[in-house]
Amino acid sequence: MTCLLRPVGRAQRAPLERLTRATGLFRPEEVALAVELLDDNLAGDDDYRFLGAYAGEDLVGYACWGPTPGTQGTYDLYWIVVDPTWQGKGVGTRLLAAVEQTLIADRGRLIVVETSSRADYAPTRSFYERRGYAQAARLRGYYAPADDLVIYRKDLVDGVLATTTA
Ligand SMILES: CC(C)(COP(=O)(O)OP(=O)(O)OC[C@H]1O[C@@H](n2cnc3c(N)ncnc32)[C@H](O)[C@@H]1OP(=O)(O)O)[C@@H](O)C(=O)NCCC(=O)NCCS
Repeated sequence: MTCLLRPVGRAQRAPLERLTRATGLFRPEEVALAVELLDDNLAGDDDYRFLGAYAGEDLVGYACWGPTPGTQGTYDLYWIVVDPTWQGKGVGTRLLAAVEQTLIADRGRLIVVETSSRADYAPTRSFYERRGYAQAARLRGYYAPADDLVIYRKDLVDGVLATTTA
């Protein structure tokens, strides 16, 4: 079954929480934060934007991003999550490409992603790297001892053009 991309609504609040937890990657407070950002979005906060991937009526993945406060044309990708049973089938790639295209239309210049250095995030880091994201900084011990913050960046003008035509 293929999936389609469309907005995330109130009806997807519980499924979004479920699938975020189901990845097994996020701490309970991180799962709660994802839901909190959706609540902010549903309350009209444009700082947190969501796009969902659906198989029929079921939410199988989502991305959440927003303008980085105090910058010109820089956006943070806060979340990109795919239900474990749907991972490795191209859903994350489609979500990421759709976010990038949206940001280009919004005159976005730079996209920034924060992730962890932990071994269980290795597939996540390679997901970003193979899609044109470059490691820009690393803060040792940021999340926890031996759990560094890894910051990726992608130039939304040259970078996206380069990777979509490669
Ligand atoms: C990272 C993630 C969003 C990628 O989405 P996806 O739909 O699984 O990825 P796709 O099928 O589009 O692409 C597959 C690529 O992602 C990589 N990948 C990363 N995590 C993967 C996973 N758990 N299962 C399968 N492939 C994964 C594969 O190695 C593959 O790489 P390649 O195509 O460059 O060879 C998704 O796996 C996920 O939700 N992971 C857990 C949560 C997470 O790490 N989110 C990002 C931090 S907020």
